Amino acid sequence: MLQFTVNEKLCTRCGLCAADCPARIITQEGKALPSIRPDQEAECLQCQHCLAICPTAAISILGRNPDNSLPLSADSFPRLDSMSRFIRGRRSIRKYKDENVDPALIRQLLATLANVPTGVNRRALTFTVIDDKAVMHRLRENVLAALATAIKAGRIPERLKYLQNAPPAYYERKEDILFRGAPHALVVSAPPDAPCPAEDVVLALAYFDLLAQSARLGTVWWGMLKMVLETLPDLKALIGLPPRQRYYYGMLFGIPAIHYPRTVQRDDAAVVKRVSL
Ligand SMILES: Cc1cc2nc3c(=O)[nH]c(=O)nc-3n(C[C@H](O)[C@H](O)[C@H](O)COP(=O)(O)O)c2cc1C
Repeated sequence: MLQFTVNEKLCTRCGLCAADCPARIITQEGKALPSIRPDQEAECLQCQHCLAICPTAAISILGRNPDNSLPLSADSFPRLDSMSRFIRGRRSIRKYKDENVDPALIRQLLATLANVPTGVNRRALTFTVIDDKAVMHRLRENVLAALATAIKAGRIPERLKYLQNAPPAYYERKEDILFRGAPHALVVSAPPDAPCPAEDVVLALAYFDLLAQSARLGTVWWGMLKMVLETLPDLKALIGLPPRQRYYYGMLFGIPAIHYPRTVQRDDAAVVKRVSL
């Protein structure tokens, strides 16, 4: 049940909701109120565009009260120059303070992150969070011990140099190649039957990267997690991932212990091609 309701007094019959509906299931003609035929409800993407676009907050769907939405004006979004500086200036952080991030801030970040776009608006993402540095430390110790054992047993291919080097670096030099000393991590996963599981996972983490850095936290993509877990899949259980989970990726985060006073300079780092037909 979509619970699509229109406040008769507020609705101006402007037709914007019907015109914007990506599934084209809202009809609005003349002085009639916008409506969705019951037999078309299953086609709804549940994107809530109808609620979002209504100029008079007349539409409710999925039980959402439009008055609970954040109001938006032309000035609500960051400007291009600040986004540009932000994207150029955000860095992978590999040095963290040995402190937990405020749990309320982590909750706020994850609630915001639930708003990221997903293919066909499936929203089947799972956010697995390590929000306690003591838990992170136990994970670190477990993973490194398992890796050291696997190396001794010849189960780690020579070509996986990072994995080969991680235990000696950690035990002999206190260098944390795998976890970068981060107190927290977010692992985003998606089921294989989602329309775009790989894209959804990476996209959510890309948003998290920016969101967390806007809250003055440090982040670093956690490709090493995938390398470890695809080499030793039994370890997936440590973070509650099923052994055959395929679509997942991680990001480390925490309070940065370093500051970069300037951007890097990579405006020419991508090949730009122009299509002309
Ligand atoms: C998909 C992906 C996986 C990554 N995995 C790791 C990782 O496991 N450990 C690490 O220290 N950095 C990792 N990085 C960070 C990159 O090395 C980093 O983005 C790059 O050196 C550029 O630095 P910047 O992010 O500060 O611009 C990863 C980055 C990406 C995009």
